[in-house]
Amino acid sequence: MNTSSSPHAILFACLLWTIIPNTSTLTIRCNPYDKQALLNFKHRLSDPSHILSSWSTQHDCCQWKGVTCHNITSRVTQLTLPCSTTPPSYRDTEDKSHCLTGSIYLSLLLVELQFLTYLDLSNNDFLAIQFHYSLHSQDSYNNLSVATTPLPRQSLNSSTLRHLDLSENYNLAINSLQWLSNISSLEYLDLSYIDLYKETNWLQLVTTLPSLSVLNMQSCQLQDLRSSLQYANFTALEVLYLSKNEFNSKLPKWLFNLNCSINDLAFSSSSLKGPLPKALLNFRQLEFLDLEINNLDGPIPYWLGEFQVLQTLILGINMFSGSIPTSLGNLSSLAELDVSSNNLSGIVSEKNFVKLSKLMSLWIALSPPLIFDFDSHWIPPFQLEELDISFAGPNIPVWLYTQRSIERLYIEESSFEAQGKFWNFVSRMTGFLDLNGNSIDGNLTNVLLNALYIDLSSTGLKGSLPRLSPNVAFINLSNNSLSGDITPLLCDQKTLNGKTNLVYLDVSVNHLSGGLTNCWKNWKSLVYVNMGSNNLTGHIPTSMGLLSNLASLHLHKNKLYGEMPPSLQNCRSLLIFNARNNILSGNIPNWIPHGVKALQLRSNSFSGNIPVEMCQMSSLIILDIANNTISGNIPYCLGNITALAFNNVSQNTLSFSIFLPLSLSYYYIIIVPDNLKLVTKGQESEYARILHFVTLIDMSSNNLSGTVPTQLFSLTGLFSLNLSHNKLTGKISNEIGNMKKLESLDFSRNQLSGEIPESLSSLSFLSYLNLSYNNLTGKIPLGTQLQGFSEFSYIGNHDLCGTPLTKLCSQGAKSKDTKGGSESEFLSWFYIGIESGFVTGFLGVCSAIFLKKKKMEAHLFQVFL
Ligand SMILES: *[C@@H]1O[C@H](CO)[C@@H](O)[C@H](O)[C@H]1NC(C)=O
Ligand SMILES: *[C@@H]1O[C@H](CO)[C@@H](O)[C@H](O)[C@H]1NC(C)=O
Ligand SMILES: *[C@@H]1O[C@H](CO)[C@@H](O)[C@H](O)[C@H]1NC(C)=O
Ligand SMILES: *[C@@H]1O[C@H](CO)[C@@H](O)[C@H](O)[C@H]1NC(C)=O
Ligand SMILES: *[C@@H]1O[C@H](CO)[C@@H](O)[C@H](O)[C@H]1NC(C)=O
Ligand SMILES: *[C@@H]1O[C@H](CO)[C@@H](O)[C@H](O)[C@H]1NC(C)=O
Ligand SMILES: *[C@@H]1O[C@H](CO)[C@@H](O)[C@H](O)[C@H]1NC(C)=O
Ligand SMILES: *[C@@H]1O[C@H](CO)[C@@H](O)[C@H](O)[C@H]1NC(C)=O
Ligand SMILES: *[C@@H]1O[C@H](CO)[C@@H](O)[C@H](O)[C@H]1NC(C)=O
Ligand SMILES: *[C@@H]1O[C@H](CO)[C@@H](O)[C@H](O)[C@H]1NC(C)=O
Ligand SMILES: *[C@@H]1O[C@H](CO)[C@@H](O)[C@H](O)[C@H]1NC(C)=O
Repeated sequence: MNTSSSPHAILFACLLWTIIPNTSTLTIRCNPYDKQALLNFKHRLSDPSHILSSWSTQHDCCQWKGVTCHNITSRVTQLTLPCSTTPPSYRDTEDKSHCLTGSIYLSLLLVELQFLTYLDLSNNDFLAIQFHYSLHSQDSYNNLSVATTPLPRQSLNSSTLRHLDLSENYNLAINSLQWLSNISSLEYLDLSYIDLYKETNWLQLVTTLPSLSVLNMQSCQLQDLRSSLQYANFTALEVLYLSKNEFNSKLPKWLFNLNCSINDLAFSSSSLKGPLPKALLNFRQLEFLDLEINNLDGPIPYWLGEFQVLQTLILGINMFSGSIPTSLGNLSSLAELDVSSNNLSGIVSEKNFVKLSKLMSLWIALSPPLIFDFDSHWIPPFQLEELDISFAGPNIPVWLYTQRSIERLYIEESSFEAQGKFWNFVSRMTGFLDLNGNSIDGNLTNVLLNALYIDLSSTGLKGSLPRLSPNVAFINLSNNSLSGDITPLLCDQKTLNGKTNLVYLDVSVNHLSGGLTNCWKNWKSLVYVNMGSNNLTGHIPTSMGLLSNLASLHLHKNKLYGEMPPSLQNCRSLLIFNARNNILSGNIPNWIPHGVKALQLRSNSFSGNIPVEMCQMSSLIILDIANNTISGNIPYCLGNITALAFNNVSQNTLSFSIFLPLSLSYYYIIIVPDNLKLVTKGQESEYARILHFVTLIDMSSNNLSGTVPTQLFSLTGLFSLNLSHNKLTGKISNEIGNMKKLESLDFSRNQLSGEIPESLSSLSFLSYLNLSYNNLTGKIPLGTQLQGFSEFSYIGNHDLCGTPLTKLCSQGAKSKDTKGGSESEFLSWFYIGIESGFVTGFLGVCSAIFLKKKKMEAHLFQVFL
């Protein structure tokens, strides 16, 4: 069983299930007692998509889905009901709505199916395990031919079950594993991805199973590794997977006192610390050792070279120091070696690889890079499929070119010259090419790229855009010095003939010029397009309307002009449309697809009125049409944009997943956290992961007139509202106090009149307020946090008075402050103001963290096909 297909930091391997063929037999008749037990089990669970429909139509229960009977006795021996889930489309996460759910009546199965040896209910959506049960009204034992059948016992007891797999029922939490000791025959136990947080005694309980040979408790939220426990009584254990838990301790003593022959040991992402104990040598027959992503330190021990049958050694992303011992070059069975992202230093030469003829995957990227001292004629004993490397440039290690099977190449932290030989080499690759962030002296003119996933962003590459083969699904060329137009990439005849698979295209932040071309009809698979921050010009082409899968389109900061082509209304999957900072003109379209969640048209030349059709964009959470010449009134009906009225953060997600088919049975899933630059609280910031928290309307710097409609204030989910620099008149309605989530409000530079509504002071999250340069009058409401803002929030209103303005209110100045507004009251409100400032300041810190963690998350899934 392979738990870690790749140790790359952004990859998580995830074995979903094993497929057990359902042996059908010719003449088997199922035992009526077993049949009744299965029906009882079925009655107690929930089967929304009728996966178990054969469990009543077929007479012979040995023919039922998932059921296997013994070929002689006809008793039910296996129940194999993993749910098959395939990633259904590029944007959704795994859908389990069709899987079995409800409760697993485990004792019912184990007591009544007396010959059951194998039970697999993995990857369903079960919510609970039940042990004690009473008979249902549907249960009937009267029908059974076995007249003397006893009623089932109410407790769990099995001496036949050998294989139990309940893994990946992600919503299942088990408080106690006490029942495990009642299944003494267990040999294989997989509880991975079940929440066992409350079972602090898990180790004592599993070690009492005398025959257990495979134990998988990855990602079970286990915390206690019982490092004080001296002995664990496993005697048959061969495979132990405890990755992705929170142990926060050293490798425990009991592990090294085991008197059994462990083959596979995985403790990745488990917060382990300390050096590697030599007692690990007790497991000389170790084939698989995964300690990735921990805080292990000290040297990589020389004695690791003594594991003669070790095939996988993963030590990446720890704090190991010193050099890579040459003894590792003796591990003649090794297929995968990962020492990347540690504090290692020193020299690497051919001595480190002498006997590694079976090596397929090598991860040695470090910062700073190790010093390579290879003979220039060295021919490695291995042919790699996967290489993660960093080296001191400017030359690429020559031996790289001897590797003819590389499918995944990751170069990090390096600075090198890339000539024709290098591009010829990488253009033969069909898998993953990730050179992001290196400093590459190279020219992409006439280069043909072929890999499924290509990331050449932020590398300083020059020349024109490369050509792409139809195999490419993901390409990121952003933040380089590429110039010329986009025809080599989009209109190249060689790629036009075949079916293209491109899903993700990012050429933003380059020096591209010319028009957007009319070649889009060849790229209908595109989901994400970013051509922002270039020097592109001309109209948005009609053929972009053919991109019916497009979810995110970024054309910002170019010189595009003219009206938006109505064909874009055919992009029905569109979630984000960002064309800010262009010269687009005409009316704001009234046909924008209703599913759009973020519309950013700021800083263009749009004119005319705001179309009322916009009110039907019920998913809209970001509406930014600032800095145009839009006139007329703000439509009343904007108040019924439901996503803004009921800000349901979980539905507002603007990131989406892309599924790249790696092979027939693997998908690589990339979660793209989309980002936008937005103005809120008086400044422009980039929002990525928390984009969906930033519900915003910005209509500032237009020619809008009339009043601010009261209905707008029913958008109680709004975070930021900016109507500044318009010609709005009339009073601010007291209803504004309904916008409880508002943090940023800007009405400055209008002609608003009347008093500041008292209710504004109830907006306790408000941390930015600008009402300056209007015609507001009267006293700034006292006894509120409104005094916490500086005078700049209020200046330019001639008849406004009171703190924080220096203008005192005359005795006659009207004030609704009937409570008198004593100074002590003012101070208490002032403190609340500071507190709310703290709340928003904290959000600011969070957004900074999210902005730094821009690296994409990806998951490797095995998929049932
Ligand atoms: C029953 O199955 C066993 C293996 O489980 C096989 O060896 C045997 O031949 C089978 N018998 C019949 C009658 O199919
Ligand atoms: C019991 O028998 C009756 C008819 O004798 C039948 O309708 C019913 O479905 C049976 N119940 C079960 C659970 O098999
Ligand atoms: C386990 O077996 C004991 C009897 O040996 C019984 O008392 C207990 O209830 C059983 N546990 C469960 C969960 O059924
Ligand atoms: C468990 O069941 C077996 C028979 O299936 C029986 O011999 C044994 O006594 C039972 N143990 C307990 C603790 O109930
Ligand atoms: C292991 O077995 C020994 C003796 O058989 C016993 O003293 C000890 O408590 C057991 N340890 C655990 C964790 O069950
Ligand atoms: C380890 O197990 C073997 C047999 O499995 C046994 O002969 C030996 O005595 C055990 N050693 C210890 C220290 O328990
Ligand atoms: C890139 O190469 C092309 C032709 O191979 C050449 O015309 C162009 O000037 C080069 N660009 C740069 C920036 O070196
Ligand atoms: C953008 O393109 C225009 C011509 O279309 C050119 O004059 C200008 O220099 C270009 N700007 C940049 C930054 O490349
Ligand atoms: C408004 O748009 C113009 C170009 O249309 C731009 O120069 C200016 O910086 C923009 N102002 C703001 C505040 O975005
Ligand atoms: C939208 O708002 C308008 C005017 O406020 C109202 O008449 C209409 O019923 C609302 N529509 C929906 C679907 O709520
Ligand atoms: C400001 O309001 C006063 C009375 O409320 C009105 O007389 C005056 O004309 C207004 N000024 C502007 C510029 O709207």
